[in-house]
Amino acid sequence: ALARYLDGLVAALSTATGEFDPDAVQPDRGIIGGVETGGDIPELSYLSGAREDHLGAAICSVDGEITASGTDHAFPLQSISKVFAYGAAIDLHGLDYVVSVVDEEPTGEEFNALSIDRTTKKPKNPLVNIGAIRTHAMLGTSRAERTERLRAAMDGAAGRSLDLHRETCEEERRSADRNLALAYMLRAAGSMTEDSEEVVSGYIEGCAVLTTVTDLAVMAATLASGGTNPLTGKRVFSQVAARQVLSVMLTCGMYDNAGDWVSDVGLPAKSGVGGGIIAALPSRFGVASYAPQLDLHGNSVRGTLFFERLSADFSLHML
Ligand code: DON
Repeated sequence: ALARYLDGLVAALSTATGEFDPDAVQPDRGIIGGVETGGDIPELSYLSGAREDHLGAAICSVDGEITASGTDHAFPLQSISKVFAYGAAIDLHGLDYVVSVVDEEPTGEEFNALSIDRTTKKPKNPLVNIGAIRTHAMLGTSRAERTERLRAAMDGAAGRSLDLHRETCEEERRSADRNLALAYMLRAAGSMTEDSEEVVSGYIEGCAVLTTVTDLAVMAATLASGGTNPLTGKRVFSQVAARQVLSVMLTCGMYDNAGDWVSDVGLPAKSGVGGGIIAALPSRFGVASYAPQLDLHGNSVRGTLFFERLSADFSLHML
């Protein structure tokens, strides 16, 4: 019954032009931010072969039961990787230390804003770029160690070895001025001592890891289950880390649309400009959607519609 429901919803959304406001879509979908925010990554989604009609959704229960519908195209995680870097940092250093370096407060600003507290000099949260870059720096003492730790967390959560999309990585490194600026600001503020270029390079690599929507549902289910991958049975994150990750997803995961999202969907979630969104209902399941057209916040347009419907149809709102 769930499979039929999901097929129906995916089919409805792929033709749902009525409620799909084309003006809400960034015309050059995949470009993040545009002129005001510094215009970072040209044609990013197209690099990974994304098509406008791509649409997919998957649910993975904490028992490991998967229901999926739509495309199995693999696309870059982008900002969804931030969630896994944060979990890995907490398990490496402990929650108190991590929160003493990167705060846990929503910003209401764009994802690539200079969201650093004027007094404490802390990035506001680990899910905006500046906080994710600082979090990435915590993952080890060398570029290689940080990447290895992040990839291990993501592979562990997906239950398989995930590939890297080199073109996305290279393109983002060529146009990394904005992220480099954020890293240099962290150093200037005395919040980071690691080399900016190495940290940003590793952060970008994490963003360019490829997943299908089914991988994402399993990764979300790993968080929903308190840190244990439901397919492999292996512990990827401690319960403390999994809970903290979901807490910050609830308040900060959808950037400057986080308030609307909590009202309308009511689940902790995280979006990426690759077109993916993950969400979790703790102790029950992880859900993911993939649809590459983005709104002005950098969130997937049809993905947001998908979650609004799913939440309403199954009364998933936590409140
Ligand atoms: O660093 C960046 O700007 C991108 N690699 C990731 C941004 C992103 O996914 C924001 N999400 N909605």
